[in-house]
Amino acid sequence: MNTRESMGRRVLAYHEHSKHQPQRFAPGPGHLDWANQPDPFRTYAGAPQVRLPLVADRLTVAFEDLYRPSAGEGDAIPLTLESVAALLELSLGLSAWKVHGDSRWALRCNPSSGNLHPTEGYLVVPTLSANGAGPGLDGGVYHYVSRDHLLEQRRGMDPGEVSAWNALFPAGQFLIGLTSIHWREAWKYGDRAYRYCQLDIGHGVAALRYAAAALGWQARLLTAPATRDVARLLGVESGGVRFGVNDAEPEHADLLLQIAPMGEPWVAMSPKVASLVELAGQGPWMGRANRLSRRHGMEWPLVDEMAETTRQPWQVESRAPLAAPLPRLAAIRGDDRGRMGAATLIRQRRSAQQFDPGATLDREDLWRMLDATLPRADQAPWDALPWSPRVFPVVVIHRVPGVEAGLYVLVRDPERVEALRAALDGSFLWSRVEGAPQHLPFFRLRSGDFQESAYWISCRQEIASDSALTMGMLTVFPPELATAPWIYRQLYWEAGMVGQTLYLEAEAVGQRGTGIGCFLDDGFHQLIGLRSEGFQSLYHFTLGRPVIDSRLSTDPPYPAPGS
Ligand SMILES: Cc1cc2nc3c(=O)[nH]c(=O)nc-3n(C[C@H](O)[C@H](O)[C@H](O)COP(=O)(O)O)c2cc1C
Repeated sequence: MNTRESMGRRVLAYHEHSKHQPQRFAPGPGHLDWANQPDPFRTYAGAPQVRLPLVADRLTVAFEDLYRPSAGEGDAIPLTLESVAALLELSLGLSAWKVHGDSRWALRCNPSSGNLHPTEGYLVVPTLSANGAGPGLDGGVYHYVSRDHLLEQRRGMDPGEVSAWNALFPAGQFLIGLTSIHWREAWKYGDRAYRYCQLDIGHGVAALRYAAAALGWQARLLTAPATRDVARLLGVESGGVRFGVNDAEPEHADLLLQIAPMGEPWVAMSPKVASLVELAGQGPWMGRANRLSRRHGMEWPLVDEMAETTRQPWQVESRAPLAAPLPRLAAIRGDDRGRMGAATLIRQRRSAQQFDPGATLDREDLWRMLDATLPRADQAPWDALPWSPRVFPVVVIHRVPGVEAGLYVLVRDPERVEALRAALDGSFLWSRVEGAPQHLPFFRLRSGDFQESAYWISCRQEIASDSALTMGMLTVFPPELATAPWIYRQLYWEAGMVGQTLYLEAEAVGQRGTGIGCFLDDGFHQLIGLRSEGFQSLYHFTLGRPVIDSRLSTDPPYPAPGS
């Protein structure tokens, strides 16, 4: 029977099953079926297309200013087709094409495990003008195709429906929906793919939140709508006619973000979602989803099963306060790092594939990065989430002058200090780190050289040992998880958001980061002497001075207008 308890147990069983162990990686294909590599771009054949302008370059806001609590207040850019285009360009859009020999592959503003990009983005909007005047976009539901920076209209409102549809959106507001095509990740990673899809969603949420800040907008996760309603609203219900009855690999609905001008009082659109679903459901859906691989050599049913198990029922909207408000670490450095244009910095974000083991990270830059991951209820990207932090980076410092090499923990929610102390190795020091800003809950646990352990734990990847630091994101598995299995996905989303914050912060100080999904779960737990199943590491991250691969060349993300 599918009781909540049994679903909660299934989640925990999946978590154990999908761990990488030294003697046994999580079940996966074991080889890459290149002939059937999934198409990284979903399209809907037959859906009307709307080409979007490339306008992100016109935004002049500095990266540092995205953190201003009132960023854009009073001068939020109006909601038009043009500003929505900028939002998508800077979050889910392409950032470059890489070329090596005969191979060419796209990179995006949002990173993705294996560059497989399971995340799809949808726009749910009222009627928009082009750029303040003239016809722009009909109200409706659209799918974003990052390859061509265009929208596919899946559901357009008829003249008779449009005023009722538009009336459901508060002025200047709209929704973005995110979904995952699990097959893209499962093709390479098998059963562990569910985890990677959820981490990628977290990266996507933070990417959208930062991009929204560049326009003077806020973005918040809607916690109330049931997953089923999200799927209906986005037209991705499995097997449903909206999706186009064919053999396309299914998409699983993940979440809705509400986008609103900064400074407007927050009124969640959740109560409107049922009406939006009902209206959208009354008309025809356009386009047929493409099939991504000709053949599936192996299937990974557990991954889709997990998506079913973690579907959320309708919830009462909760926006619990985040942890106590913290002072924002003022720009520490006298130089102009962080003053780089936000649009430039967001599009130059890359994963380092190799680090210079002779390079170091400045201590002041470390404080800045850690500070950016602290939750603040009025600041990007953490104002997008309604819950107190559940992710606690255990940082392995290799090369930061002025900070001894060793193990450290950033307790992003001070209320968890005692629980963490009780859960970790009893001989850890828990000493405050000398020189760290007062408000930074950063503790030294043990001094020592952990480069070899980091390498081994990260599936023997040198990016974890040659960097300036690496980390495991220790995450609380709250007791509610036993009866609310959807919390499991939220934990990954938060970890992915920490990763995205660090990626951008690394760029801001001339360094580079890389997400690490391949790690030995219990190997890391042993390193930190974990004594409780109430915490698990869900994601790893590494950061330092990159070595650039000069064999690769870079092409622009999109052809120049008019070319
Ligand atoms: C969830 C996640 C897990 C990742 N795991 C690894 C990893 O274990 N090793 C690695 O070298 N890169 C890893 N990456 C980096 C991706 O390979 C990289 O994001 C992708 O190739 C796209 O390149 P870009 O980040 O430069 O846009 C990971 C990225 C994400 C988002």
